[in-house]
Amino acid sequence: MSTAIVELLGASKRFGGTQALNGVDLTLRKGEVHALVGENGAGKSTLGKIVAGLYAPDSGELRVDGVPVSRWDPIRAQRAGIVMIAQELSLVSQLTVEQNVFLGAESSRLGVLKRGTTDRFRALLELAEFDLDPKAPVGTLSIAQQQKVEIMRALARKARVIVMDEPTSSLTAHETAQLHTLIRGLREQNRSIVYVSHFLDAVLEVADTVTIMRDGVRVRTAPAAQETKSSMVEGMLGRELSVTFPPRRPSVNESVPPLLTLEGVTTAAAHDISLQIRPGEIVGLLGLVGSGRSEIARAIAGADPITGGRMIYRGTEVSRWNTRKAIASGVVMVPEDRHAQGLVLERSVKENISLAFLDRFSTLGVISSRRERAGAQELADALSMRPPRIGLDVGGLSGGNQQKALLGKWLVGEPDVVILDEPTRGVDIGAKATIYRLIADLAERGVGVLLISSEHEEVLALSTRAHTVSGGTIVGEIDPATLGVSDLLAHLFSVDLTIGATA
Ligand SMILES: Nc1ncnc2c1ncn2[C@@H]1O[C@H](COP(=O)(O)OP(=O)(O)OP(=O)(O)O)[C@@H](O)[C@H]1O
Ligand SMILES: [Mg+2]
Repeated sequence: MSTAIVELLGASKRFGGTQALNGVDLTLRKGEVHALVGENGAGKSTLGKIVAGLYAPDSGELRVDGVPVSRWDPIRAQRAGIVMIAQELSLVSQLTVEQNVFLGAESSRLGVLKRGTTDRFRALLELAEFDLDPKAPVGTLSIAQQQKVEIMRALARKARVIVMDEPTSSLTAHETAQLHTLIRGLREQNRSIVYVSHFLDAVLEVADTVTIMRDGVRVRTAPAAQETKSSMVEGMLGRELSVTFPPRRPSVNESVPPLLTLEGVTTAAAHDISLQIRPGEIVGLLGLVGSGRSEIARAIAGADPITGGRMIYRGTEVSRWNTRKAIASGVVMVPEDRHAQGLVLERSVKENISLAFLDRFSTLGVISSRRERAGAQELADALSMRPPRIGLDVGGLSGGNQQKALLGKWLVGEPDVVILDEPTRGVDIGAKATIYRLIADLAERGVGVLLISSEHEEVLALSTRAHTVSGGTIVGEIDPATLGVSDLLAHLFSVDLTIGATA
């Protein structure tokens, strides 16, 4: 066994009424990829944050290089070579990629880069095999690209321990493979990685050791070679579970009038979009990251102004469409970025859920708090939120539970058209199954659903129809019932190549 770098003995951590960790032991060895798995709220991020000095444990002992540590914070951790890539990204959106990468590192002061950083940046880029523009403002990047910037930031700090909290939640299969190659390279250099993930296949592929968490307690630590997907799920949930998709919805007859029709709709970021959504239909959008799926969603949701073409909702052409109008008429979007576009972190789950739909809970502008509470609680229960207390601030929820609150926020208003952009991002395997059922139930009730997910499998399994997207426009329609994931990928890449060749 190689040497232990970080050891936690009986670590506990409490937030208000929540015991996030309860007597957890963890040993992180040199040159080890150590995965943490567990349900939403199991304590993985809390454990990672303790390792990286963002939280100090309430009790228990922490040893770094065998030496007990009494004072522990991010600066001390960084000095000891330990950094974290947080689940909720922490980049400064006004600064460029390069500035963010070196922010707080020795080669920058207040965002002013020292000489030679451009070369260092290039070297890092090569090491990571990422494709990023150093001068691009981070605010203009997709979540997936921001995740890459965070990874580069950790590399720039020459960390010997990197805690990666769900690093692949917005990456495509190809990008995940790239990241795994990078992780193996870091392991070769005897660095250690804590790898938190809900993607159990990825865990088995890259980890040496797996620690399974449940309700703040460590269930077991074992070599990854001894675990299987089902043994991990069993450990996480305390029961067996195989995620199955609900039966595919029957296709909706073409004679049924569509809820929503787009004819050549164009915005700043999407062009010439034509599609229809009928009641009870789940329409999938399939494309690679950056293909323009979210931009199409934003046009429909009124988030980006429509500059050309026509959008017809319930038989009437809409004009000067914006999010307020969209929401008021029952067209809602669950956005990809739950912080920037979704949740108010300082407000309770209940308030977040009812914020968008005050009308539903109010008579003549007076909110009925009883109805508000009942509606919110019903959804929290349906989504098995943990803890199920809707009075808690959203900011204190674990990542996956925030995602559930975000879904709840938009479903409570009983919308007519729902756009779901990455609805299962960061959600555990049990909750995923619930969300799939919820999506199918929406359609069953006659809601029109537009579904975007980088987990192509989800789109293929749930959609009644699906369009392929590339270069900001719809390039084709596929039959989700007959196309497999590997065929789809081949198709998407060839579409992209063709577009690239003709552009
Ligand atoms: N800052 C905080 N304030 C209040 N409660 C918190 C805070 N951070 C975590 N918790 C609570 O501690 C518990 C563990 O949360 P943690 O974020 O570690 O879970 P997780 O395993 O990372 O879950 P996920 O898979 O959803 O990211 C949860 O019940 C969460 O609500
Ligand atoms: Mg977490």
